[in-house]
Amino acid sequence: METRTGTLSITVCSLVMFSFVSLVKGSLSFNFYAASCPSAESIIRNIVSSSSSTDPTIPGKLLRLVFHDCFVEGCDASLMLQGNNTEQSDPGNRSVGGFTVIDSAKRILEKFCPGTVSCADIIALAARDAVEIAGGPRTMIPTGRRDGMVSVASNVRPNIVDTSFSMDEMVKLFASKGLSLLDLVILSGAHTIGTAHCSSFRDRFQEDSKGKLRLIDKTLNSDYANELIKQCPAGVQPSVTVNNDPETSMAFDNMYYQNLLAHKGLFQSDSVLISNDSTRKLVVDFANDQELFFENWDQSFLKLTSVGVKTGDKGEIRISCASTNA
Ligand code: HEM
Repeated sequence: METRTGTLSITVCSLVMFSFVSLVKGSLSFNFYAASCPSAESIIRNIVSSSSSTDPTIPGKLLRLVFHDCFVEGCDASLMLQGNNTEQSDPGNRSVGGFTVIDSAKRILEKFCPGTVSCADIIALAARDAVEIAGGPRTMIPTGRRDGMVSVASNVRPNIVDTSFSMDEMVKLFASKGLSLLDLVILSGAHTIGTAHCSSFRDRFQEDSKGKLRLIDKTLNSDYANELIKQCPAGVQPSVTVNNDPETSMAFDNMYYQNLLAHKGLFQSDSVLISNDSTRKLVVDFANDQELFFENWDQSFLKLTSVGVKTGDKGEIRISCASTNA
């Protein structure tokens, strides 16, 4: 398994990727709003930046939001729709956040350019900005996504990766979205920021007869496991969270990969990335070279934000992200 290296190959890859996006997906294009809403991208960036300085948990939330949106029904803001039995109501999305930031951006955009900028594009651009604000690379992403009309809770489980998934299960699900093994390793690097509720890694521990948690997953570093038990003892409040990256939780950097090699991957689905020879090699490469991670992030993020996009006469431009126009 090779990483994508070298400036020339990155440029060529970007062009090929862009052509792929244009040809296969219809009319996503760079600067799609240049004429219809020239300040769209800067408005979104300003909102993401100001909300992140008030609430430092926002970048992590926005980055997870785009993943959960794109994997279910494609990147079409189906996750923003409110109501009985929509994607938001599925337990797999209960801890997803950042909706208020998207709603605020949409409200302002509706004042400047009514009915023009889709919620799906706001989600993708906001996640892109969140990465940069947390110290990661700035990625150019094409726009022109339209908003979907369908949001059903039962579509969530079959399309979202669970932390208990094996490597094969993850690879299969990612492949069904057009994403490769390399994309899986790269995009998992998102866990370099953000937090997780204690319940999301509880399966790595077992409660003994004295009500104390014991590590059952021996792939985890024991000091790290003890630290997690301290922060998340048996019976902890469900709202308690820990940092995904125990070392540099606010920074979008390559520490995630260094943590994996130190057996400090928070979820079982993180730890499995070092149990397979080809993914382990990639983890070592990214742990040793942050620039290489950033260069590869660009491509994989572009692919993630292109999954199942609706363009042309598909979908609509919602007036409010929380409901369809009809
Ligand atoms: C590959 C399989 C993946 C699994 C099993 C997984 C699972 C999880 C879980 C269980 C949490 C904690 C949720 C909570 O308890 O609040 C989480 C957090 C997070 N995930 Fe993933 N994830 C995966 C891939 C991704 C991808 C591809 C991205 C984005 C590109 C991503 C971005 C994030 C972020 C940023 C957080 C922190 C959210 C916050 O701070 O609110 N994850 N993930």
